[in-house]
Amino acid sequence: MADFPFQRPRRLRATAAMRDLVAETNLAVTDLIAPLFVREGIDERVEISSLPGVFQDTRDSLRREVVDLADMGVRAIMLFGVPAVKDETGSGACDPQGIVQLALRDLRSELGDDVVLMADLCVDEYTSHGHCGIVRPDGSVDNDATIEIYAEAAVAQATAGAHVVAPSGMMDGQVGAIRSALDRNGFGEVAILGYSAKYASGLYGPFRDAVDVSIADGGDRKGYQQDFRNAREALVEVHADLAQGADMVMVKPALAYLDVIHEVRRQVDVPLAAYHVSGEYSMIKAAAANGWIDHDTVALEHLTAIKRAGADLVLTYLTRWFAERATGRAAS
Ligand code: PBG
Repeated sequence: MADFPFQRPRRLRATAAMRDLVAETNLAVTDLIAPLFVREGIDERVEISSLPGVFQDTRDSLRREVVDLADMGVRAIMLFGVPAVKDETGSGACDPQGIVQLALRDLRSELGDDVVLMADLCVDEYTSHGHCGIVRPDGSVDNDATIEIYAEAAVAQATAGAHVVAPSGMMDGQVGAIRSALDRNGFGEVAILGYSAKYASGLYGPFRDAVDVSIADGGDRKGYQQDFRNAREALVEVHADLAQGADMVMVKPALAYLDVIHEVRRQVDVPLAAYHVSGEYSMIKAAAANGWIDHDTVALEHLTAIKRAGADLVLTYLTRWFAERATGRAAS
């Protein structure tokens, strides 16, 4: 024992009560947003094989799922649509009878304002080529033609009952185009969550299974999503979205971009979301299934780290797991 008074941080780690008392970060079910998929033309919900525990829902099973999540205290969902038919321009994204619009109407009439209904706003689920916009003959994506479609889709989603629209296509000017279309159509109260700093990531693979998307001709999204070598560029994107009227901003994916989350948190005061994406979820599930890691320990560690880095909200496929655990409903 040294005879000088050195720091003893271990005093504050001695008991579980003490550790809870001094914890700097606490994850709550109200921090989480559940991404959900509704698919047209199926009679029963289908589990997504690369996303175990996540389903493509029917309109009915989606309604039951959201009611159940709400009962466990979940306050928000992010809805994605899987249409039966895809076309060049992704017209299903704007169609009042499109699957997401129908599902939003169901949910809004069933749940009213009990759950914040967020709609992912993009066309890749609806286009035959799988790109997030209008493709020109040379294969590039036409920014300005695309944001006109996003504006129309936003109005369709708001009309159907979305509280929040969340543009995820990474087109320049998308937030401004959507904001003015919403305002012109009497939806001044519908909020925008910008997927502001969204990287071209290898971690979206299982999601593309979930929405039946494959990009034509072995293409990728590097012409519009961000390059993972860049961090400062994320700040340009975030400030641009805020200037155009975004109410909340997002960084995506989460764990490989904690530095970006941290820096955005330092620079902005609006709510900051992070998307713990499909690949991040599937890596936990796969390693746990092999007995290589402990699922619950790693899941909690990862989600808490995202919040510790500075995110207020986390979109995660682990929302149901966390809510079941928080309400004592967990099986194990
Ligand atoms: C695009 C979109 C994607 C995700 C959410 N919105 C896929 C992409 O950009 O290719 C990925 C989400 C995930 O992997 O969980 N509409």
